[in-house]
Amino acid sequence: MQDNERTGAFDHLFTETVRDGLNEEGYGSWRSIKAPGAVSLSFGFPFPESFPEDQLVAAAEAVFEQEGERALQYGGGEYVDRLTETVVERERERGIDCDEENVLLTNGSTHAIDVVCHTFLERGDEVFVEAPTFMGALKLFANYGVDVTGFEADADGLDVDALAAELDARRADGRPLPKLLYTIPTFQNPGGTTMSRPRRERLLELAEEYDFVVLEDDAYDDLRYRGDPVAPLAALDDSGRVVRVNTFSKTIAPGVRTGWVLADAEPLAEITRMRAGGTNTFTQSVLGRYCAEGRFEADVEELRAAYERRCDHMLDLLDEHMPPGAEWTEPNGGFFVWVELPEGIDAEALLPTAADEGVTYLPGEQFFPDDGGENCLRLSFSHVSLDEMERGIRALARATESTLADH
Ligand SMILES: Cc1ncc(COP(=O)(O)O)c(C=O)c1O
Repeated sequence: MQDNERTGAFDHLFTETVRDGLNEEGYGSWRSIKAPGAVSLSFGFPFPESFPEDQLVAAAEAVFEQEGERALQYGGGEYVDRLTETVVERERERGIDCDEENVLLTNGSTHAIDVVCHTFLERGDEVFVEAPTFMGALKLFANYGVDVTGFEADADGLDVDALAAELDARRADGRPLPKLLYTIPTFQNPGGTTMSRPRRERLLELAEEYDFVVLEDDAYDDLRYRGDPVAPLAALDDSGRVVRVNTFSKTIAPGVRTGWVLADAEPLAEITRMRAGGTNTFTQSVLGRYCAEGRFEADVEELRAAYERRCDHMLDLLDEHMPPGAEWTEPNGGFFVWVELPEGIDAEALLPTAADEGVTYLPGEQFFPDDGGENCLRLSFSHVSLDEMERGIRALARATESTLADH
């Protein structure tokens, strides 16, 4: 094999979308920074003690004992069905009218988004998103060669008035309309905010009026630690336009690579057709058994309390240490705080100083489809210990203060 030196020898064989990406700065990598020894507040990893290791070992043993080769065969056995039933039960508890025919298990929600894109999008189509939004989804949209347009979000989520105005203007001018709108309505990544119910209802009216699909990504919905739940878009929808994706990455473990698509039977049939290669039915069997034991709900309850402690600790530390002029969101769930730095400070330019001081984060720009977020950054409180978090926030405050002093 060749070493890592890029020669470009195969560029002419790549797809047009891959070739376009080769010329883009930062293509294929998250732009954080390698800083051994610094506290990483960059990524939305669950904390290691959150994984139900003993329960999964016991569940795997039970699967081998009870289902043996069926669990290892294509398609899996009974416990795959148990997992689908658990998903359906939990989605019904959220108010979504669904049954097993509406659920397709996938290898995580990134895979779920991918198969939805594969079903609906082709080069040149347009996708609307909240800006900022999950950079993993932006990367996927780039893989499909679609145009992405961002709409601002505030504490109540996506600005549906701005969305309505744009759709209206496009119709009046005869310009193309989007095919799909991607949203993370609850504890948004990276904003930490939640879309209000009236805005959800308005969004669904717009989807119906302007004929686009709403892709609802609810990865953090289970991790609400305060405030009243808001009905998912899929629960409010009676048009069948909402395709919902979700995952066990944040409530069980990312390594189990198990998520799902929930949709009306008609789109789901085509999404299923586009999901080539099957999924990890052995892992699904283990999760099916784990859920059947009835521990899952109690384990998630413990997670909520643990993430609430982490979130509160980070908010207290920001209050205590950040200089005036910095602002941040106060989430009711999920993994992230979105920080706006004092005016004039560029989060990407600040990163090397922050790393020298002992912290890394993800600069805001990479969560936007175009420009935006230059003075913002995302902090994750999900992974580090409380002590590390303190070191990290103190380091961020020192870096911000020293940069302010140089201005
Ligand atoms: C909003 C959102 N969707 C999807 C994912 C990815 O989930 P999965 O591990 O199931 O692919 C993440 C993880 O960071 C996320 O924040």
